[in-house]
Amino acid sequence: MFNIKNITDSIIYVGANDRKCDIFEGTYPVPDGMAYNSYLIKDEKTVLMDTVDKAVAEVFYDNLKAALSGRDLDYVVVQHMEPDHSATLAGVLLRYPSAKIVTNAKTVPIMKQFFDMEIDSRVEIVKEGDVLSVGSHELTFVMAPMVHWPEVMLTYDKKDKVLFSADAFGSFGALNGNLFMDPSEYVTYKSEARRYYTNIVGKYGAQVAAVLAKAASLDIDIIAPLHGCVWREGKEQILDSYKAWSSFEAEEDGVAIIYGSVYGGSALVADIIASKCDAKGYKTEVIDVTSKHTSYSVAAAWRYSKIVLVTPTIDGGVFSRMENTVSALVAHNLQKRKIAIVDNGTWAATAGKAIRASFEKCKDIEIVETSFSFKSRLKQEELSKVDELVDSL
Ligand SMILES: Cc1cc2nc3c(=O)[nH]c(=O)nc-3n(C[C@H](O)[C@H](O)[C@H](O)COP(=O)(O)O)c2cc1C
Ligand SMILES: [Fe+2]
Ligand SMILES: [Fe+2]
Repeated sequence: MFNIKNITDSIIYVGANDRKCDIFEGTYPVPDGMAYNSYLIKDEKTVLMDTVDKAVAEVFYDNLKAALSGRDLDYVVVQHMEPDHSATLAGVLLRYPSAKIVTNAKTVPIMKQFFDMEIDSRVEIVKEGDVLSVGSHELTFVMAPMVHWPEVMLTYDKKDKVLFSADAFGSFGALNGNLFMDPSEYVTYKSEARRYYTNIVGKYGAQVAAVLAKAASLDIDIIAPLHGCVWREGKEQILDSYKAWSSFEAEEDGVAIIYGSVYGGSALVADIIASKCDAKGYKTEVIDVTSKHTSYSVAAAWRYSKIVLVTPTIDGGVFSRMENTVSALVAHNLQKRKIAIVDNGTWAATAGKAIRASFEKCKDIEIVETSFSFKSRLKQEELSKVDELVDSL
């Protein structure tokens, strides 16, 4: 059986959903699974736009066969070699022995690293601005280095005005029967799209901004990413989000309160800070680093203009879950934020000092002067420190 859908008269979705995937890329929890998108263009020639993860190989091969409806496959465009889009490339090449691979020069050595099959005789190399005419469809290739691998390229189809955007504009989460994004659902969809962007691509804001600048000159009706929904109506919403996210500017003036706690003392302080921030009219989000994966903190750090970190000192350093969170923020190149640090120790609070040192690697990070330490439990007479901290945000 198969499950294919037309996105235009001559472009067919042949991807599939994996709801058994709990952890994407061995790292990110995906409670709603993953969608691995792939598209077939049917014209005088047939062109497959990327393949899918091995988890959904069977459905994908059946979808592709059904979409081809007896025709042979002429080309596979490889926009990205990460195995979630290329694990089934070898299977496609074996099934369709006359299919040519269309990709850029950087991809070829990576393809050879992943696969032992003969590649050179089947590859047609394209570079920035090259056009592949396959009948009425003309595919123009747009290089997108480091969004988020070095070989990434996007493809623009002039006829149907489709931008095949590789991992850009994607999201975590399997599709719910709806291939096209319902713009009124973006408020909900955005939280996983943000967590996907910030964690997978977030570090490469400058490269994403460069691609957005190139995309601005294209007349786009449809954005077809490799994960998540296809965009037709309301695509300015995702484009606007990408503009904000890639610039490292906060999406909204609000406070992410990210805390860790062993015995509850730091947790209570985090909640008191959250209540006071809320009372001041800030949008607030509280995240416990032990119960929520680091990727949620990274997403919240991109969303809000201010971040409060509350953590115990453990063995003279930072509580390990908080240490992971801080390293993730630094590794993703967080910028342009005001950060307050509250550390806690029973005999010597040193976690705050270590966190400060970590953020020295980041650009435009202001650690607020009202950051403070407390011992074991915050006392009533110390509440003014919280007030001062919240006032200074
Ligand atoms: C394994 C372990 C190691 C700790 N190491 C330190 C330490 O090096 N310095 C310190 O001041 N407190 C240390 N503490 C005490 C914690 O900082 C303590 O949990 C905190 O003061 C109370 O905050 P909480 O209720 O949020 O956990 C340690 C606690 C644990 C469980
Ligand atoms: Fe990728
Ligand atoms: Fe991907």
